[in-house]
Amino acid sequence: MEIKYLPITHKQNAAGSLFAVEGINDIPFAIARVYYILDMPIAARRGKHAHIKISQAALCIRGACKFLLDDGKEKAEVILDNPSLGIMLEPMIWHEMYDFSKDCIIVILADAHYDEQDYIRDYTEFLHKAQK
Ligand code: TYD
Repeated sequence: MEIKYLPITHKQNAAGSLFAVEGINDIPFAIARVYYILDMPIAARRGKHAHIKISQAALCIRGACKFLLDDGKEKAEVILDNPSLGIMLEPMIWHEMYDFSKDCIIVILADAHYDEQDYIRDYTEFLHKAQK
């Protein structure tokens, strides 16, 4: 399956690094929600769901982690370990996050507000809907 990578504009100098993400320009949607995930135990596994309509972009802004992406036909594993390269989490992509480094911080940008109705949290249900 095709992974959509998102290069993120950054400015680096002796005073530090600045990363800027603009909706529409750097990611293919207007940003309605931002959330960040941190303090994951190394053995944790997060995500384990797909969204019906919501599109998201995932960035690992510190440390490293792995993403499993699954479109119902193919699976891919992606290592995110660089704040200047994110990935798209498109609708109907089952995703799981794991192998978190101790310092890992993930930022997710979404095109809609939080809506539990948009989640598919059952893998069998996901496969059924994805293969329609
Ligand atoms: P969840 O999406 O299951 O987290 P992850 O995919 O990282 O494992 O969300 C965990 C909890 O946080 C759940 O109770 C819903 C809540 N939540 C919000 O309140 N707002 C949000 O924007 C998100 C993404 C989750």
